Amino acid sequence: MRTLVYGLITIVIGAAIIVFLIRPASSSATTTGPSFTAAQASAGKTIYSASCAQCHGADLSGGAGPALAGAAAQSLQVSSAFQIMTTQMPPTNPGKLTHDQYVKLMAYILKQNGMKPGSTPLTFAAAQNASTSL
Ligand code: HEC
Repeated sequence: MRTLVYGLITIVIGAAIIVFLIRPASSSATTTGPSFTAAQASAGKTIYSASCAQCHGADLSGGAGPALAGAAAQSLQVSSAFQIMTTQMPPTNPGKLTHDQYVKLMAYILKQNGMKPGSTPLTFAAAQNASTSL
């Protein structure tokens, strides 16, 4: 009986260690960030294709402008990226989009960086204040 108990304890501890070891090494891309909805992200995708993709790439991997997703973008703070977007993008006509459109764009960028949509919509203020990285 005692051997069985020790055996079970060993299995449980072993499983815990394995789960610990195989969890994603870099959690910055997939964990917390400001919340947004799937609807915001999909609306953002349409705006992105029309106004941003020609310079930042259809898949956000960059082009004339820097990458907005993936390893190259993940040192960027959400608040800094949002600040640049809302005051300098698109370069030909900075600030031409509405607050609502910039918020949807940010929701799309968050989603493309591995963050999961939820039930709380992103707001302009939340994007401005988000200190997490992309
Ligand atoms: C005409 C090309 C062009 C278009 C269109 C454009 N961008 Fe940019 N974007 C750039 C360039 C070039 C930079 C780098 C500017 C700099 O470093 O001063 C940049 C920088 C950025 C950054 C900061 C990235 C970083 O790593 O610092 C963000 C965020 C961004 N753009 C978002 C957008 C969004 C969102 C749109 C669509 C509304 C957009 N851009 C449209 C060319 C463009």
